[in-house]
Amino acid sequence: MRLLITGSSGLLGLNLALDATRLHQVIGVDRDTLASVPFELIKADLLNPDAAYHIVSEAKPDAVIHCAALANVDTCETNPELAYQMNASLPARLADACARRQIRLIHISTDAVFDGQKDGAYIEGDSPNPQGVYAQTKLEGERAVLQINPMAIVARVNFYGWSLSGKRSLAEFFINNLSTGKNVNGFTDVLFCPMLVNRLSGVLLAMLERGLRGLYHVVGPQAMSKYQFGVEIARKFGLKESLISPQSVDKSSLTARRSHNLWLSTHKLSTDLDMTLPSFSTGLNEFYTQYQQGYPQKIRSYQQNS
Ligand SMILES: NC(=O)c1ccc[n+]([C@@H]2O[C@H](COP(=O)([O-])OP(=O)(O)OC[C@H]3O[C@@H](n4cnc5c(N)ncnc54)[C@H](OP(=O)(O)O)[C@@H]3O)[C@@H](O)[C@H]2O)c1
Repeated sequence: MRLLITGSSGLLGLNLALDATRLHQVIGVDRDTLASVPFELIKADLLNPDAAYHIVSEAKPDAVIHCAALANVDTCETNPELAYQMNASLPARLADACARRQIRLIHISTDAVFDGQKDGAYIEGDSPNPQGVYAQTKLEGERAVLQINPMAIVARVNFYGWSLSGKRSLAEFFINNLSTGKNVNGFTDVLFCPMLVNRLSGVLLAMLERGLRGLYHVVGPQAMSKYQFGVEIARKFGLKESLISPQSVDKSSLTARRSHNLWLSTHKLSTDLDMTLPSFSTGLNEFYTQYQQGYPQKIRSYQQNS
């Protein structure tokens, strides 16, 4: 399969492109950030209105996985117009470009579309109620994609892993701070379902191969608080968990409001894929093995001028 991956310098896009290269012909899209990657690259600023059409006609892919976004929740809050362009308008153009050529599309969305008021796990049929600019623009993006291109997959995700900058993911935040003896806060009242980014890559590719379409929750099968996640990371990496202070997110100084419960059910996904999703501990063990094998350094070496 010829696979076009946008945001191929991002946490998801880069890991996905590297994983997919083993089985598929990958063409990544970046803004001249990457060097010496083992896949083809197209340089494009996706804010350019023609870019979505241009990359699809240049790459002639069998499928597109759209990972590029304005994914920093607090940056979105202070730049709503940019957030709208990246997270809502661009996915609509890409969905149109793919529909015109009958190219499969996975559009990456977020667990954050929910307000977190539900008692229990959210299913795909539950009504979203976004709490900030990021979540609102991501919801507009997923709705536009499914309206324009009903054959597309919209995947609401949450993941962690090793990134190009070495500081993009929550797991890296805990490791970077704890390993230098710094105190950090861990939110006890934000539940989420983290999945190792490389396990997510495998699931996304399986969804394409199975010919799925429509809206799916594509997160880890286990819900935990961000505090508990930090403790699990600290224990696995032999770091001091006592440096993590349990705290309420409502007492934090974060710009955008966060939902308390982002526990998403993966029942639809595992049923339609006929697959048991990898457990949290399986992902965490793999994350630690990657560390032992120098994967974080390898990822960072793909940065231009690294
Ligand atoms: N991280 C999470 O746990 C999480 C949770 C829920 C949902 N998501 C969703 O998952 C997807 C991937 O997130 P991520 O964490 O991998 O994001 P990320 O690390 O911030 O990567 C974003 C990517 O988008 C690219 N990009 C931004 N503006 C661009 C532009 N104008 N033209 C071309 N490329 C542009 C960035 O390129 P540069 O490197 O050049 O900036 C980067 O490659 C997003 O849709 C996000 O909303 C993430």
